[in-house]
Amino acid sequence: MSSKQQFVKLNDGHFIHALGFGTCKSQELWSTCLRPELVQPTLEKSLERLQLDYVDLYLIHYPVPLKPGDNDFPVDEQGKVLFDTVDFCATWEALEKCKDAGLVKSIGVSNFNHKQLERILNKPGLKYKPVCNQVECHLYLNQSKLLDYCKSKDIVLVAYGALGTQRYKDWVDQNSPVLLNDPILCDVAKKNKRSPALIALRYQIQRGVVPVVQSFKENEIKENLQVFEFQLSPEDMKTLDGLNRNVRYLPTKCFADHPEYPYSEEY
Ligand SMILES: NC(=O)c1ccc[n+]([C@@H]2O[C@H](COP(=O)([O-])OP(=O)(O)OC[C@H]3O[C@@H](n4cnc5c(N)ncnc54)[C@H](OP(=O)(O)O)[C@@H]3O)[C@@H](O)[C@H]2O)c1
Repeated sequence: MSSKQQFVKLNDGHFIHALGFGTCKSQELWSTCLRPELVQPTLEKSLERLQLDYVDLYLIHYPVPLKPGDNDFPVDEQGKVLFDTVDFCATWEALEKCKDAGLVKSIGVSNFNHKQLERILNKPGLKYKPVCNQVECHLYLNQSKLLDYCKSKDIVLVAYGALGTQRYKDWVDQNSPVLLNDPILCDVAKKNKRSPALIALRYQIQRGVVPVVQSFKENEIKENLQVFEFQLSPEDMKTLDGLNRNVRYLPTKCFADHPEYPYSEEY
């Protein structure tokens, strides 16, 4: 990692990279393991597999609980998703215990809307606030309201899909627009003599979002690190803000029937 890489302080005093590369030892608690009694054993199994004593960051992957078992996506004979009934506030208490046990440094959530975050923050006896909320966030879904909310609560908004996602065949509508081909983004990139990917990442850094971007290509990884070497002008930031159009690449509609489906709320 380049010495130019910067860090963001979390509300529990720990730090994360300002641009995530998957190099930070973070893990997510999968939706079939949200029952409080499953949380610590699940984390311990992950630690054993990873041959680690602790992870830096542990996140509740998604607020909708799924039926526990070996199948990550449990479905019935008709292919309907099998849900579980778990209050994620109880899951959160189990995560707090994992932190107290030293199995994880920081705890957070992923794919929570602001009302769901609010429920954790207002939970009686809350010991630790979530340090972050990792959500889909990019130029076509810039999450400005959720970002403002998170900032007001000292929660870091971590962006996945900042480059328009990997367009996973099973999850993303293949007819959805390709973010990095956007003509206005490409114009801003040309003007700044940088690639559209770098502009899309720089946009997030400049508004206080931590993008987590995945690449296995050396040239891309090197390029992405240049995000700390330039700045976008206020006019460019405004132009890029204007690209927001509520395109959610990963709407996970198969969970829409559950009352905790996060995207029924505006933000
Ligand atoms: N919490 C959640 O629910 C959730 C959901 C989805 C994803 N995630 C996580 O978020 C991370 C990022 O998400 P993502 O990979 O779907 O989306 P992404 O970061 O928007 O896109 C990654 C894609 O961009 C390409 N890329 C990387 N650097 C590039 C560059 N400089 N120029 C051009 N293309 C570049 C990579 O392709 P190639 O390297 O193949 O060229 C990769 O396929 C992943 O680690 C993923 O596990 C979390």
